[in-house]
Amino acid sequence: MSNRGGFSNRLGFVAAAAGSAIGLGSIWKFPFEVGSNGGAAFVLVYILCCFIFCFPIMLAEVAIGRKTHKNAVGAFGVLGFKQWSIIGKLGLVSGVLILSFYNVVSGWAFGFFVEIIKGNFGIGKEFGAFISNVPLMLSYSGFFMVMTAFIVAKGISGGIEKATKIMIPALFVILIGLMMYAFTLDHAFTGLKFYLIPDFSKITFKVIYSALGQAFFSLSLGMGALITYGSYFSRDNNIVSSSVIIIGATIAIAFIAGLMMFPFVAYISQGTMQGVGSGAGLIFTVLPGVFESFGTTLGIVIGGAFFLLLSFAALTSTVSLLEVPVAYLVDEYKWNRQKTVWGVALFIFLIGIPSMLSSGASPFFTEFITYLGASKATDFLTFVQHVANDTFLPLGGFMISIFTAYYWKKENLDAELTAGNEGYATSWVRPLVHIAVSFVCPIILGIIFVLTVLDRFFGVALI
Ligand code: PHE
Repeated sequence: MSNRGGFSNRLGFVAAAAGSAIGLGSIWKFPFEVGSNGGAAFVLVYILCCFIFCFPIMLAEVAIGRKTHKNAVGAFGVLGFKQWSIIGKLGLVSGVLILSFYNVVSGWAFGFFVEIIKGNFGIGKEFGAFISNVPLMLSYSGFFMVMTAFIVAKGISGGIEKATKIMIPALFVILIGLMMYAFTLDHAFTGLKFYLIPDFSKITFKVIYSALGQAFFSLSLGMGALITYGSYFSRDNNIVSSSVIIIGATIAIAFIAGLMMFPFVAYISQGTMQGVGSGAGLIFTVLPGVFESFGTTLGIVIGGAFFLLLSFAALTSTVSLLEVPVAYLVDEYKWNRQKTVWGVALFIFLIGIPSMLSSGASPFFTEFITYLGASKATDFLTFVQHVANDTFLPLGGFMISIFTAYYWKKENLDAELTAGNEGYATSWVRPLVHIAVSFVCPIILGIIFVLTVLDRFFGVALI
């Protein structure tokens, strides 16, 4: 273990795992998914998914990682179930796909930081042209991948822990400040109603699987990122309370991001909420106009700080995504860590190029695929998200729950969760976790998986 490095203490692990979780998922994706999926109903389903499915799976992932001190693939072999390392391999594929588009969107965020500090508040209106400027996007996302690789190359506890301990509190502060400002604007109440008062007739099956995918994605679950991070965690720390903090912080950031965004959308649309369902451009088109309303100097300071923090938040997530394949190759094949980091980073950067071209630059990738039964084409970047976030991650979670309950066995999970948390054996959480991993997750996630594939990709709606 010592030669693999480890987190310095519990706060180090919590900070790094929360840094992995908190990122574009909570601040960029969550608001636009809420906007595209009917508002408050989506919020409710998302939060339920986090607690019912994601919490037990997070416990299982971290426990497997800490027990074995291995990467996401090797961990299953150490436990004596080599054939189950398929979970880790699926996770590697998911992670590579996620990082490929995530790095592109991180480039957008960093590019917006640069534009805002130049005082270019009109960038929101030029979002479409900006992200289809290929040479510019190649440089921004290339730069982002270099930063990611640089941090991962330095080793797990050096960079990540420190960056996150500053970044998360700063993010909370700026989001809360912007939220309070949003509340004072005209039509704020209209925005809040959209966000907070659920219209249950809007809960379609698409809302359910989008919210489930968002829950897994935002908590970095279902692909072994937390097996990998758990492997650097020491045995005298409490996995259960750490997981509660990670989930709580992630939901809190996402929730506050929504409290800020929807009043802004209502204000800018003069109460009509027009454009709320516009998708991936939501924060990028709305926020620069808001920052402009602060006046040039203050707008540059606050807007610049916002996009810089968003870029940092994205960076602590890209780092965890890159760490998964790197830990695998270094552990299992004894590859040189430095070379592996740079090689894998380059490979994933190249795989991300189609996502970069899918916002207009290339007609082929912009109208990449038309699902059976769909009327409109889906672009490549969105397609990758549908496959990786909404399909593979819950599938990974489903398999982890089956593996934990019926192969590794609940007693072993209990033993690992009790280490560092003596009270666990007798706490009320334990029976609930047992029910979740043995029945609720396998059955419900299994059913949702099959229905999602049929509904989204084949246009067969069974419910
Ligand atoms: N949770 C990260 C976010 O919301 C994305 C991520 C997914 C990171 C899976 C690691 C693994 O931004």
